Amino acid sequence: TVAKPAIVTCTAPVNIAVVKYWGKRNEDLILPINSSLSVTLDQDQLKTTTTVASCRSFQEDRIWLNGKEEDINHPRLQSCLREIRRLARKRHNDRDCSVDMGCLSHKVHICSVNNFPTAAGLASSAAGFACLVYTLAQVYGVDGELSGIARQGSGSACRSMYGGFVQWIMGEREDGKDSVAQQVEPESHWPDLRVLVLVASAERKPVGSTSGMQTSVETSSLLKHRAKSVVPDRMKQMIEAVHKRDFDTFAELTMRDSNQFHATCLDTYPPIFYLNTVSRQVISLVHQYNRHYGEARVAYTFDAGPNAVIYTLQQHVAEFFHVVRHFFPPDNNGKKFLTGIQVEPVSIS
Ligand code: PMV
Repeated sequence: TVAKPAIVTCTAPVNIAVVKYWGKRNEDLILPINSSLSVTLDQDQLKTTTTVASCRSFQEDRIWLNGKEEDINHPRLQSCLREIRRLARKRHNDRDCSVDMGCLSHKVHICSVNNFPTAAGLASSAAGFACLVYTLAQVYGVDGELSGIARQGSGSACRSMYGGFVQWIMGEREDGKDSVAQQVEPESHWPDLRVLVLVASAERKPVGSTSGMQTSVETSSLLKHRAKSVVPDRMKQMIEAVHKRDFDTFAELTMRDSNQFHATCLDTYPPIFYLNTVSRQVISLVHQYNRHYGEARVAYTFDAGPNAVIYTLQQHVAEFFHVVRHFFPPDNNGKKFLTGIQVEPVSIS
């Protein structure tokens, strides 16, 4: 008989950090030098969809990303596969019959697609590895705490394993067992919080986060200061602001943290530039807008790329959107704009 594959498809959302992770203390296990906190975005808008098929007739594990076959031997991919299979084997040995031993020896074919540009500083690896780990876990019948495995694919991926407001606790142990993500509040906690993605460029970033943070750890003294003396207090303040739904504090901390992250990039030798002219214009616009009202109504944050992610409240979306449109009118080249969250997407390139 022809062997039939077992097929599972899942989706995972992007998360955008408001207290950034930058720098590892252990490269192999992906253990960070500081804790971080992010908001997981709406699944319908920016997401990865992954299908995993497992079949006894498959000769080897294989993976396709956005339609192109990639190297399955990538060490981080291998870490995730190995860890999920180890967990499945352990469950089976602990006599949990829901784990099918036959399935464990099967090879898998993995297909993953993003509905947004890969590696443009929009946290594609976070959604990608979170989705991979979750889908593999479904195939192998394992559940429980999986963020520690997603972390070994891409650090920020551990935070996409939960919705809402999520912290990644850096942990203290050398084996990384306590370096996991934890939900601070569910998405329903702050229903009028909105996110707007302003796309300054959908190109691949010039310096990837892995090599970027490696150089920063080696050369930036500002990064050491940040990890040791700034982030611990900032995490506490941010968690409190989230608990209290205090947007003013949330906004200021978010912008300060983005600015400090990009300052550590500039303090890296040779320096790394993720922001471009448009990014800096957005920063000025946000500060002018907030100054006009005498309060923080919108906040920007930038990851390893020039695209701005704006946090604001529902009642300010329409007006701020209008202001952005005024200063960055859409071009008429029929370009497809990147999807924004909750509001129409804006291209400001
Ligand atoms: O998980 P990585 O290796 O893609 O690193 C992501 C780092 C930032 O996006 C810049 C910050 C963060 O905390 O997400």
